[in-house]
Amino acid sequence: MKFRNPIFLLLLTALLFAACGKKVQVESYSIIPEPVELVEEEGSYTITPRSRLCFVNLAQNSPTVKYITQSLRKMHVHPAFIGTPKKDCITFTLLDSLESTLGPEGYRLSVVPEGVFVYAATEAGLFYGYQTFLQMLPPDVATIRYSRVVLPGCTITDYPRFPWRGSHLDVSRHFFPVQDIKKHLDLMAMYKLNRFHWHLTDDQGWRIEIDGYPQLNDVGSWRVDRTDVPWGTETPAEIGEEPTYGGFYSKEDVADIIAYAAERHIEVIPEIELPGHSSAVLAAYPELGCPGTHYDVAIGEFWPTKAILCAGNDRSVDFLFGVLDEVMQMFPSDYIHIGGDEVFPDNWEHCPKCQARMRELHLEKVSQLQGWFIDTVASYLSRKGKRIVGWDEMLDCGTSAKDAVVMSWRSTEAARRAVRLGYEAILAPTEFCYLDYYQADPKTQPLAFNGFISLVKAYSFDPMPTGLTPDEQGRVLGGQANLWTEYINNYEHAEYMLLPRLCALAECFWTPVENKDWPRFMMKTEHHRTILHAYGYNCCDIPSLNDQYDAEVNH
Ligand code: ACM
Ligand code: ZN
Repeated sequence: MKFRNPIFLLLLTALLFAACGKKVQVESYSIIPEPVELVEEEGSYTITPRSRLCFVNLAQNSPTVKYITQSLRKMHVHPAFIGTPKKDCITFTLLDSLESTLGPEGYRLSVVPEGVFVYAATEAGLFYGYQTFLQMLPPDVATIRYSRVVLPGCTITDYPRFPWRGSHLDVSRHFFPVQDIKKHLDLMAMYKLNRFHWHLTDDQGWRIEIDGYPQLNDVGSWRVDRTDVPWGTETPAEIGEEPTYGGFYSKEDVADIIAYAAERHIEVIPEIELPGHSSAVLAAYPELGCPGTHYDVAIGEFWPTKAILCAGNDRSVDFLFGVLDEVMQMFPSDYIHIGGDEVFPDNWEHCPKCQARMRELHLEKVSQLQGWFIDTVASYLSRKGKRIVGWDEMLDCGTSAKDAVVMSWRSTEAARRAVRLGYEAILAPTEFCYLDYYQADPKTQPLAFNGFISLVKAYSFDPMPTGLTPDEQGRVLGGQANLWTEYINNYEHAEYMLLPRLCALAECFWTPVENKDWPRFMMKTEHHRTILHAYGYNCCDIPSLNDQYDAEVNH
């Protein structure tokens, strides 16, 4: 009889469930990026299957509530239901009044015997508080069922140093399916990165659906497959060989990714590269190139990249406006990245149409044609309420687009120059932020771009250039990790190049300089390797303090 009693059955299930799980006492916290302030307190709180998850001042259908509830379920730390906070709760409270102290992305988190309490002025702040909370749990919580987790008491006050904490991914040199992009966004969210710079177009493939120019996808998204040989050793296409490698994101894919990112408080910034790196465009629409030039979608290494839109042809401008109209419909971001790097203007030198354009505009140097292109596009986008971001070459070609944001990649000096000229700037210098470079002795590593950034080198990055006035400093928006994928043809390999260096850069973008501590970061990294492996990320496991090779290269 008793076995039919539902209450008894419930109790039995709970007992069995508790017996299955493990008990763990967390000894200390290893949060990346390091918070602004973490004070250890007396006492502790034990999460058990009875612990409840509560939200205050948040609608049950708010994205943050949904995200936290679903994610905690997966963690095997089972929330019971959403209710009013009492004792034994993990509680998230939205309080507008905290904006003045914590800013738009900050949070406060305390662990006391009654529970875990997270406060913020915004959902972004609560989201980051939740990411910190997840990192306080045992590192293998994604794979092991714990029945009791004892968290030592603490109070954390935290907010970012910079508003732009970017991660860039090149999907042209190699194409990554939507699932991989989502995994990348999850990784960004873990480390409080908030700008996904999606490099969608380049010589080796056009990766976004554009209805008005269907050849971009029918032709420009596909190349002859040479993925079986190392990058740079490709043989040319044979006559009649079909282009079979590639793909592109449909409008539905893009909407899906933007929504997925937004749930994680990540803004997606598309990059539509112009006027150079345009082989894929010109393969699709040869008439947009200078007369007499011909390009196929590049099948691999392509250098120097002379494929460039003809500046003397009005159809080039119509094309860009048409593409950008569709891009603006797809992406809610205020920013559109328009590339502008590595423009080799040889074709412009020899093109009668481009030369005529220069005469008409009274330009003396061909480089100024690039300035004209940028200004034309920037003012078009500006009329539609958007701002351009461009690579730092834009400073060399006489643009007058003053509301542009300069992404400084060739040097830190370029960013210094930009902010002194009144531009806002984002720092992604090759010296620290190019995670396609080797992270250890190349003899021990998969083939990579021929540069070297060890973990300690990445960790030493300070996005704020020295020698700036307070006004100029205010124009430094933050930093960004870039991942070019010439040598990376699957996302698992991308993870290997990103991790753990992306964690180091995330700390550089978020944490006040005075809180950074390399020996401590190294210890935290060991802990995070376990976290990352538990989540299924492929993290480079070479010891943090690199080898002889690091010492030789960097000293
Ligand atoms: C770049 O790395 N060419 C921006
Ligand atoms: Zn031309």
